Amino acid sequence: MRILVTGGAGFIGSNFVRNLLSGHYPKIPNPKVTVLDALTYSGTLTNLRPVADHPGFTFVQGDIRDVELVDSVVPGQDAVVHFAAESHVDRSIHGALPFVTTNVTGTAVLLDAARAHGTGRFVHVSTDEVYGSIPTGSWREDQPLAPNSPYAASKAGSDLLALSYHRTHGLDVVVTRCSNNYGPHQFPEKVIPLFVTRLLAGQDVPLYGDGGNVRDWLHVDDHCAGIELALRGGRAGQVYHIGGGTELTNRELTGLLLGACGAGWERVRAVEDRKGHDRRYSLAIGKIQEELGYRPSIPFAQGLAATVDWYRDNASWWEPLLDRAALGV
Ligand SMILES: NC(=O)c1ccc[n+]([C@@H]2O[C@H](COP(=O)([O-])OP(=O)(O)OC[C@H]3O[C@@H](n4cnc5c(N)ncnc54)[C@H](O)[C@@H]3O)[C@@H](O)[C@H]2O)c1
Repeated sequence: MRILVTGGAGFIGSNFVRNLLSGHYPKIPNPKVTVLDALTYSGTLTNLRPVADHPGFTFVQGDIRDVELVDSVVPGQDAVVHFAAESHVDRSIHGALPFVTTNVTGTAVLLDAARAHGTGRFVHVSTDEVYGSIPTGSWREDQPLAPNSPYAASKAGSDLLALSYHRTHGLDVVVTRCSNNYGPHQFPEKVIPLFVTRLLAGQDVPLYGDGGNVRDWLHVDDHCAGIELALRGGRAGQVYHIGGGTELTNRELTGLLLGACGAGWERVRAVEDRKGHDRRYSLAIGKIQEELGYRPSIPFAQGLAATVDWYRDNASWWEPLLDRAALGV
């Protein structure tokens, strides 16, 4: 199977590529993977070093908004797995335009190329944030979208566009929406790697508002396993939720991270809440469980401990990225 992976030098995309090419998904034997990635501030080839010499691996540096380039890499692909995006809510609050052009226009460029060249499956990787906020209970896949941040609005736009290509053109599109990912190789701007790298460096950590915002945590390996299931077995035109099953307030998460890093609450600095901060996200995952046999397999305590260990052992990965992590870089 020839698979084009956009955003494959980022956190989740590179995990998917490393797993694909190291035989984690035996039902996709001998995959040929082309990564298309612009190497923005959050993408780094270091993430792909373990597979760089694999005979089934090709890297193309380029932008998904580049119509000609995309038109040259899509022909011959059996599937597209589309991760490339501007992905950080705080950055979208500072400036929405790159989110609109990459997440919406870039997705349209890819969909057009997939349609023109008769690509088979197109997996569009999205987020629970497209639904807004939910005080109790969990969203199902037919929940109307009500995004609150510019990031979430741009992802909602791209989701609807992807689904429209199924309905309008019959393109074989599957949309996945997942909860908050964690694991190794996550750029140190998102809360877990931000807090861990700051705590390991002896710095304090900024906790938004009252710390009561609730997120469901999903190990990146479980997320990628769900994407692999959707790629092979998802029904065209359908949305599948991929969740982890561990809901925590940011305050609870902070306590766990302090403990894992051997630090106390004096290292926590309360900061003004994020504008428009969604209070809680929660995905019902029955559909992907029943149709595709998805089960998150990594207990949060185990996954978090391994993640903290990874950051402790791999300062050479994250230290060079810290300059880029500052907003506006
Ligand atoms: N991280 C999470 O918790 C999470 C949760 C839900 C959904 N998602 C979605 O998963 C996907 C991957 O997220 P991530 O956390 O790995 O993000 P990331 O920021 O680590 O990686 C994004 C990658 O896309 C590349 N990219 C950005 N703009 C590009 C462009 N115009 N052309 C080509 N490449 C471009 C970057 O260089 C980077 O390698 C995104 O679509 C995101 O919306 C992430």
